[in-house]
Amino acid sequence: MRYLDLKRKICSVRMLAIQGIAEAGSGHPGASFSAAEIMGVLYFRKMNHSPEKPDWDERDYFINSKGHSAPGFFATLAIAGYFPPSEMETLRKLGSRLQGHPVRYTPQESHQSVPGTEFSGGSEGIGLSVSIGIALANRLDGKKNRVYTLIGDGESNEGQIWEAAMAAAKFKLHNLVAILDRNRIQQDGFTEDIMPLDPTRDKWSAFNWNVIEIAGHNVEQIIDALNKSTEAKDRPTIIIAKTVKGNGIKHMTNNPQWHGKAPPREHTPILLEELRSECLIAPSIIAGQQENYEEKIRSAERGGADIIHLDIMDGKFVPNSTFNSDTIKQLRNITTLPFDAHLMIENPLAVIQDYIDARCDIVTVHAETCSESEFGQITDRLLSNGISPGIALNPSTDLPNWVFPHLRDVDVVLIMSVNPGFAGQKFIPEVLSKMRHINQKLREHGFRGYIEADGGIDATILQAVYEAGARIFVAGNAVYGSGDIHGAIIQLRYKVNVALERKLLEQADTIGIRRDWLKTRKHILIPLANELGIEEELHALK
Ligand code: DX5
Ligand code: ZN
Repeated sequence: MRYLDLKRKICSVRMLAIQGIAEAGSGHPGASFSAAEIMGVLYFRKMNHSPEKPDWDERDYFINSKGHSAPGFFATLAIAGYFPPSEMETLRKLGSRLQGHPVRYTPQESHQSVPGTEFSGGSEGIGLSVSIGIALANRLDGKKNRVYTLIGDGESNEGQIWEAAMAAAKFKLHNLVAILDRNRIQQDGFTEDIMPLDPTRDKWSAFNWNVIEIAGHNVEQIIDALNKSTEAKDRPTIIIAKTVKGNGIKHMTNNPQWHGKAPPREHTPILLEELRSECLIAPSIIAGQQENYEEKIRSAERGGADIIHLDIMDGKFVPNSTFNSDTIKQLRNITTLPFDAHLMIENPLAVIQDYIDARCDIVTVHAETCSESEFGQITDRLLSNGISPGIALNPSTDLPNWVFPHLRDVDVVLIMSVNPGFAGQKFIPEVLSKMRHINQKLREHGFRGYIEADGGIDATILQAVYEAGARIFVAGNAVYGSGDIHGAIIQLRYKVNVALERKLLEQADTIGIRRDWLKTRKHILIPLANELGIEEELHALK
């Protein structure tokens, strides 16, 4: 899966979509963002498809029945390689192929339709019926192609959806997977106020569908559900993806106003900064008294952690030893959360296959423990197994020059802010200027990965580490030494939010739209106003 690369691609989709919508002055950010992970996982990881051969006979089909999510859909096709991303600047412009709703692609009409578009969306409620026709035809032809259909919960007001639901079950279409973008908002308000859909699961079960419910922005759960959908042999599957309208831009989140409204063009650079600043909290399970790793992982997942940080120590490279790939194999099936393996061991190349077999999602080795050619072999092995490679630096180690030619293959640069070996140590403040320097150098070399900060991270230092460029925050003692794991993760995320809003406000100042930005962002900023020192200013805003 190369987890971090998938995250980065989906982030690029949101960035491309919001740029296009702002440039056009119209469009649907709400749905483009609520369905971003769903469409991203399908096009970047799951579906058999080919941008070079859009009509490839063995392709899987994606039917986007909620046509108004077109900006997100087009951006996904562009990032997947169906057309140049720069064409998104023409969204909704006269003469553009990218209009408000997708048009089914035909080579004859390539001037007004883009490759990869299987269905002309817009009038809602129709896509599922079309999917049934395609799934039936494929089955009659003995073909293995699968059909994926994105439908909306507002769209589920349409009676045709339920006619189609009955028909698909009658025909036992196991090659059909519908994904419900359950963001609970439609054009003019909340679905449960307008036409209640709940109990959604019961409805689809009653129509004899295989029903899977997931967190719709969690790529691991989406992949897991799509895999599970192939197990249903006698019925179609519906994945009820619990999503958030406008997810990614805080003031658009869960806000019906942003169903079909474009942000002012001058907000674009700030919105792009927000999107590219997504942060991940990674509890380190060796910290704290308790030895029960399984329980630690479960409580981190319940507490809202994004990834699990696993410190592998061999007692040679560092003066301590913890666990190895065998333990990780035992822990792998208790969560779909990504595993971030931090290898503090000598000669990592010799054992890299063990961490591949343990199904880690990120594997980071220390620059002090391998040569350039060994690192090259390690990244090749990891990438060919869909794992995100990372390189780690001890506090006194600068980023070696030999890393730069490999940057395209590196998803993480982990900067230690304690000397490796133990959790619960004090953060080394001198590391901040090094982190700033490395972040700048990496960006100058086109690095698109994440900087991970590891060691002594807690709520008091987090903002400084954020400003130095980190976007993945390992937290051992701050989480497992706190006595309240959920509360500790919430507090770290709160500090991330404060740091983010401070940065966005600085950007609004730079482009001279502070007041307008404060107005737009007011309901997000009020809870943080004290820490940001803007209480009076917000209060004075009329
Ligand atoms: C130290 C490890 C860290 C450590 C983090 O060598 O790499 O991941 O466990 O724990 P805290 O946050 O307590 O420093
Ligand atoms: Zn670590």
